[in-house]
Amino acid sequence: MDAKIVVLAGDGIGPEVTGEARKVLEAAARRFGHTFTFDGQMMGGRAIDELGTSLPEATVDACRQADAILLGAVGGPKWDNPNAPDRPERGLLALRKELSLFANIRPVKLHPQLIAASTLKEEVLQGVDLVVIRELTGGVYFGPRQEAGEAAFEAYDTMLYTRPEIERVVRLAADTAMARSKKLASVDKANVLASSRLWRRVATEVLADYPGLQVEHVLVDAMAMHLIRRPASFDVIVAENLFGDILTDEASMLAGSMGMLPSASLGELRNSRGLPLGLYEPIHGSAPDIAGKSIANPFGTILSAAMLLRHSLGLEQEAAAVEAAVDSVLNEGVRTPDIAHTGQEVVGTQVMGDLVVQALAY
Ligand code: IPM
Ligand code: MG
Repeated sequence: MDAKIVVLAGDGIGPEVTGEARKVLEAAARRFGHTFTFDGQMMGGRAIDELGTSLPEATVDACRQADAILLGAVGGPKWDNPNAPDRPERGLLALRKELSLFANIRPVKLHPQLIAASTLKEEVLQGVDLVVIRELTGGVYFGPRQEAGEAAFEAYDTMLYTRPEIERVVRLAADTAMARSKKLASVDKANVLASSRLWRRVATEVLADYPGLQVEHVLVDAMAMHLIRRPASFDVIVAENLFGDILTDEASMLAGSMGMLPSASLGELRNSRGLPLGLYEPIHGSAPDIAGKSIANPFGTILSAAMLLRHSLGLEQEAAAVEAAVDSVLNEGVRTPDIAHTGQEVVGTQVMGDLVVQALAY
């Protein structure tokens, strides 16, 4: 099969981790007889520096024509000036919106080899295998807002949701849950927020179409607690944009490190194969403190590449092979610093990528 993949390396550790994921995709293409073409495009801080905008039009055009998009991370202290007219993060949010990527799928799977890397107890972690579906193009990230301005007296952001925005993401979550263990938790803050009361009402209506589904509505603060007290009792979790952002950083600790979690953002657009035109990125940020040191964990991006194969290219066997390769490297006991404990062999980003490529070749 031929496929066109746009790579948005971005800032900080972005180029390092996408470099490794690309190597792994190339190795998968070799093993299974595919031809993947990679098209590097600019987005984020470097795009501001070099092209004057965090999301150049050429990037959006290339993404629209691609079969899938692989993204590293954007942002860094260099672009943190609150008065700057553009920010790296704006580029990412605008791209999600442009491509109407309304659902961000974040699987949180415990690799048993990494129990020791987590700050949580083994008995809490046993059996963790859940998926958070985060609404990605609505809510407080996109609602009407007012910057503080010169006087720096007042500022606001608005958490706004419409019925169709809630409906489509809850439906996608319900379908996902039906294909797994038929259990869904919908997260909101309906005891306080109007947008959450609408969320709960619409979710309840949509979920009435799924009689076989076990549903619970959980307040977001309670969910923050349950996630570290009884994470294995959850299967699919659906949440609005900001709640999903926060809960998945928390949930990454179940997997041992932020560096382990992949994500897929899907929406309404279809690619040349009739499959969702998806954006695939690790859930971590650009980690400026470790950028350029070759110590970043590439697994989150490599596992995102596996999701790309699965969801946008329909290559399930290839996706499973990449996941198996990651597992076998973890079995060898090799670790990047973020997931290492005493006595384990610590390697850098590129060596880790090479090991996955080797494992994939067999
Ligand atoms: C994420 C990130 C982004 C977000 C930032 C970089 C804008 O935290 O993908 O989770 O908040 O969505
Ligand atoms: Mg985040």
